[in-house]
Amino acid sequence: MNTTRRGFLSAAGGAMLAASLPRFVQAFASEGRGLKEGAKGRGAAMRFLGREERAMLDLASCAPSGHNTQPWTVRVDRPGVWSIGTERSRWLPAVDPENHDIMISMGAFIENLAVAAGIYGRRFEYRLKGKGPHDTELVEAQIGRGTALDFPAARIRMRRTVRNGLMTREIGTAELAEVTGSDARFLYFPRPTPMGRYLSEATLEANRAQAWRDEAQEELADWIRWSKEEQSRHMNGLTPASMEITGIAGWYVRTFFNRQSVLTKSFREQGMAMARKQVENCAGWLVLAADGSGPGALIDAGRAFQRMGLLLREKSMAVHPMTQALQESPWREEIASRIGVKRIAMILRLGYVKSYPGPVSPRMPLESFVGV
Ligand SMILES: Cc1cc2nc3c(=O)[nH]c(=O)nc-3n(C[C@H](O)[C@H](O)[C@H](O)COP(=O)(O)O)c2cc1C
Repeated sequence: MNTTRRGFLSAAGGAMLAASLPRFVQAFASEGRGLKEGAKGRGAAMRFLGREERAMLDLASCAPSGHNTQPWTVRVDRPGVWSIGTERSRWLPAVDPENHDIMISMGAFIENLAVAAGIYGRRFEYRLKGKGPHDTELVEAQIGRGTALDFPAARIRMRRTVRNGLMTREIGTAELAEVTGSDARFLYFPRPTPMGRYLSEATLEANRAQAWRDEAQEELADWIRWSKEEQSRHMNGLTPASMEITGIAGWYVRTFFNRQSVLTKSFREQGMAMARKQVENCAGWLVLAADGSGPGALIDAGRAFQRMGLLLREKSMAVHPMTQALQESPWREEIASRIGVKRIAMILRLGYVKSYPGPVSPRMPLESFVGV
């Protein structure tokens, strides 16, 4: 057994011990829940949910989302029938006007929920209600009795985005097939290949374009929680820890940075320097193609992304979504045909990591996104 594997097992054991604790309590044990304004009125929904259903939703909310906005909402229509949708105030209109990333994030949430339902021996079925990505009611889900799935909840709790420390070591073809389940929507381009180099360059240049697009940078600024106080008040967004700004630098930004700092020239330049380091340090690029442009196809792509995400830690592999080339011109118009697919759902840096960090990104309490 190698160290990384041992590290995962002990971390998983820890997570299992704390399985009944919501993840945000684990991550911010000293901060308290930080219930959002208006959350108390929504507490009513909790009466319609059993302990296991709450645990399923808590696991579902460990899903990744762009800027960690956690766009999901769940309305309990009647016992076992939930309407799942998105909350407008957690969309990202400046970088994602078509709610493309929102649909991917919803797919990740639904995948987590489907797996969590299995863990608790429930059957999970859903039908798409939304016709477009801006329909706030997306899916009607039915939760019934089913057969138990042998799947460690720790895989859901311990999954995380890793931005630093990805290695350039080549990815094993067999290992890649295991995590992607040989899903043909995943296309892999090692970094030194012509297509790998094109993706690095396009990502870097699109990052630069986005950093200097004020509207996009202001939206980013709105979703960064610099201080501990902001972090525990919102329980969403990006934090110094989740952006991997640690040590003295972490203390400095937590203490002195604010919304305005994100708009300065030096912050944008530092962001670019970091992006350059990131694109140079990975094994390659994983492109996830979408089977269509509607919410159904993007939710399905999000589910595939999350299915893979849940298996990465055990292989010491990490992914870092870098979506700017799908958001900025001219790359967004040309990139799919350059890759040779009709539509791209996601672009991900991929690499092995030596020591896998634990999850640090906050999650909102159930009361903030579950209602009646
Ligand atoms: C659709 C989507 C797009 C994302 N785009 C980016 C991105 O461009 N850059 C980045 O650093 N992280 C990106 N992320 C990662 C999120 O920031 C991350 O999932 C979120 O902060 C929660 O952290 P966690 O994944 O560690 O739980 C993206 C995630 C999703 C689901």
